[in-house]
Amino acid sequence: MCFNMPLWVYTLCVLLACTCLLLYLLERRERGKFRGLPTYPLLPFIGNIHQVVGDGRHLFQLLDRVGEICENSMLPFVVWLGPCSILVIQDPEDVKMITNAFIEKPYFYGFGKIWLGDGLVTAPGYVWKHNIKKLAGTFTSSVVDGYLGVFNAQTHRLVESLKTEVGKEPFDIIHKYLAYTTLETICQTALGVSKISESIVTTEYYEAFNRCLELIMSRALNVLLHPDAIYRLTAAYREMARCVAVLHHVSDTVMKKRQLERKNTKKTEIGENNSRDSKGGPKFKAFLDILMELSETDPSLTERQIKSEVDTIIVGGQETVASTMFYTLLMIGCKPRIQERLYAEMRSIFGGSRREVGKEDLARMQYCEAVINETLRLYPPVPGILRYADRDLPLKSFTVPKGTACGINSWGAGRSVRVWGPDAKLYRPERWLDDQPPGTPAAFLAFSYGRRACIGKKYAMAILKTMLAHCVRELEFVSEAENLQLKVDIALRPVSGHLIQVRLRQKT
Ligand code: HEM
Ligand SMILES: *[C@@H]1O[C@H](CO)[C@@H](O)[C@H](O)[C@H]1NC(C)=O
Ligand SMILES: *[C@@H]1O[C@H](CO)[C@@H](O)[C@H](O)[C@H]1NC(C)=O
Repeated sequence: MCFNMPLWVYTLCVLLACTCLLLYLLERRERGKFRGLPTYPLLPFIGNIHQVVGDGRHLFQLLDRVGEICENSMLPFVVWLGPCSILVIQDPEDVKMITNAFIEKPYFYGFGKIWLGDGLVTAPGYVWKHNIKKLAGTFTSSVVDGYLGVFNAQTHRLVESLKTEVGKEPFDIIHKYLAYTTLETICQTALGVSKISESIVTTEYYEAFNRCLELIMSRALNVLLHPDAIYRLTAAYREMARCVAVLHHVSDTVMKKRQLERKNTKKTEIGENNSRDSKGGPKFKAFLDILMELSETDPSLTERQIKSEVDTIIVGGQETVASTMFYTLLMIGCKPRIQERLYAEMRSIFGGSRREVGKEDLARMQYCEAVINETLRLYPPVPGILRYADRDLPLKSFTVPKGTACGINSWGAGRSVRVWGPDAKLYRPERWLDDQPPGTPAAFLAFSYGRRACIGKKYAMAILKTMLAHCVRELEFVSEAENLQLKVDIALRPVSGHLIQVRLRQKT
């Protein structure tokens, strides 16, 4: 029968057989490198692809289950996407090694490049190394203190909006309020404003911003759209380009205006007219202005690079802060004892006054900080981070081969009983106030760890404390967290947002 087959069918069969054989040999070689590590049962050729593809909910469940397996086996876990492996890690010692050894990121981060260029999050290692030296020192305490005027004004506005929800049904507090407030705040501090009442975030900007994040996520979840050459042909790419244009237009316009102003008034800082904090406190200095100042002595910091860094800051700080605020309100809303203790701390600092939060107040909010830490431990807004192994690296029990994508499971690390003790899964802020700090630093991964960790930690703490102070002083939160379902949409998000109600606090 074979002899009657047309030649092209025959050729095709041979080609197919060769491809399969090659793939088989390649996979066998690759899998040999990870022998002994736990993995899910493998299918020929595709490995675990059928088990890992799915939506954000599925991705979350995967993270949770793999976390349990790593905890019990004390080993890394391998996921196979065909011949490509992702090594999932959460042991603190291993996390320390990997985050200090590797500064490269896997190619997925490239999906954000059209928007964020070579900003800190998406830059390749050599670019990051050059820029981090200048940028690491930007969010110092005094710079962040200078932002308190904006934080207070924006939070005041937030509380006023929340008051309109008093006595109503549970509502979607993230999408209705928190996301917008944090985006507006971070834009004002990143780009600078001469008047706090001036908004940067229009509806168009807000929608473009959210749409970009959605498009990046849906690309990440669809392997077929990973190659740039294919993605560029899709409608999704064109939509992405349109949204990015809206976002870039805003940073462009502000930058042009600023450059002109800087030329005209070399001395006076723009955005300095921050009437609310002019009592000799630290000066407001927008992130953009800091970068433009740096660029005067360092020509490698081009206009394009400045824009990428500013856009990166806006992305890095927005969703993360909004999510942390959400999970904190969710937790205190169903734990009245914790909410009362938080309120008591605010009373002890502010008395009955509703004055602005100042930097001395922030330093006194120890319980509040413990509450935020506890939220970040159990609900890290970025539940996993990735690094690319550009060389072999021996860990405790296993050598990471060059070319591996390493996934660090921050969600799993924060819930490890081995690290945090038998009550690891319990929300208990008091653990942070014991004499001994709980866990180990390398198991608290909300801000990532080692090199390429978050540079916005001080900023995040200051804005979250300011928001919580205002919110708890005037309002009481009631929530339903029993049936909380989560998904991973770049950030860790609740599947349903309608979980929180507010009441006016009765003055005591
Ligand atoms: C609670 C709030 C925050 C959380 C949980 C958080 C978390 C993280 C994490 C996990 C990373 C590592 C990302 C990766 O390796 O892929 C990161 C990086 C970064 N974050 Fe944050 N972040 C927060 C707030 C902020 C804020 C407020 C800013 C800016 C104002 C910011 C700016 C950045 C930047 C620029 C990077 C990149 C650092 C680098 O690669 O050198 N973050 N953040
Ligand atoms: C800052 O305020 C001063 C007067 O208080 C005013 O002359 C100056 O134009 C203001 N600068 C900006 C950038 O708004
Ligand atoms: C919160 O966690 C940080 C580590 O990121 C730690 O330095 C700080 O002391 C913790 N705060 C409290 C109140 O324990």
